[in-house]
Amino acid sequence: MILLANSEAYPGIEYSARQLNEGQDGLLSLIEGIKRVELDPRVRTVGYGGWPNVLGEMELDASVMDGDSLRTGAVGALKGYMHPVEVAHKIMTELNHEILVGEGAALFAKEIGAKAGNNLIEDSKRVWWEKMEQSMTKEEQAAFPHLPLAPLSNNATDPERVRDTTVFLCQDTHKKISVATSTSGWAWKYPGRLGDSPIIGAGSYADSRYGACACTHTGEMAIRCATSHAVVLYMKMGLSLDDAVYEAIKDLDYLKDGYTEGVTIHAIDKHNNHKVVSLNCPGNITYWYWISGMDKPEERQAEVIMTK
Ligand code: GLY
Repeated sequence: MILLANSEAYPGIEYSARQLNEGQDGLLSLIEGIKRVELDPRVRTVGYGGWPNVLGEMELDASVMDGDSLRTGAVGALKGYMHPVEVAHKIMTELNHEILVGEGAALFAKEIGAKAGNNLIEDSKRVWWEKMEQSMTKEEQAAFPHLPLAPLSNNATDPERVRDTTVFLCQDTHKKISVATSTSGWAWKYPGRLGDSPIIGAGSYADSRYGACACTHTGEMAIRCATSHAVVLYMKMGLSLDDAVYEAIKDLDYLKDGYTEGVTIHAIDKHNNHKVVSLNCPGNITYWYWISGMDKPEERQAEVIMTK
């Protein structure tokens, strides 16, 4: 058994490890861990306490994937619910679809009795409005929100907050490999923007025959390179876990136009190896790691590659 998660996972990682150790289904163990991250306002990039879009509204994204059945569930731009990861899981188990967004996602969340609530905390609202005020003239402030939002969203982009999400990956006692993600996405994003976290193959992918991958930081890049599926496919084509991750890093580094910032790749293979490599991400990048036999998960340093 192995459990891997990014730095933001700290409110839920021990719970997931305990669940796995007790023989619980891997995907359910990840979901229970992520639900704890979603409710913790110290984590500023996921669920309650995350960053709003350019209009000051919380829009949440999440996904799950079961590597035995290759079934997936994902939710995008969900408003008014506390556990997007649970809604994503129900999309997988209750519907013949793989992804729901916006109003339809909220309708479905209501239908299944998902926990409703306001994810915007006062501090996020304060930081958001300060940023908006700095980015607008007095006339634009008076007109807000009835003005073109694209320049505002682009100009207010805040590199310190264009990052992170939470990602959890595991292989359980039955050798099933699973992955799950949850995020509030870019701070001040254009309404309706989906990052990589709800896009299966971009922000996450799991196949019990080979391994799993999940990405954090700049979702736009992981979408363009289908990074998570690429890592698993490279393993299927015979590359080792390390080489598969480095190949996907090369794909990302090839991108020169558009919004090109950092991406961190988290990956495991079916032999319980793991690899976390960060490309062009600022700051100290850490992750959480646990394998059966360890008392509890430990925080480790990611390998860092800087090419710009
Ligand atoms: N990686 C999270 C996002 O881009 O929304």
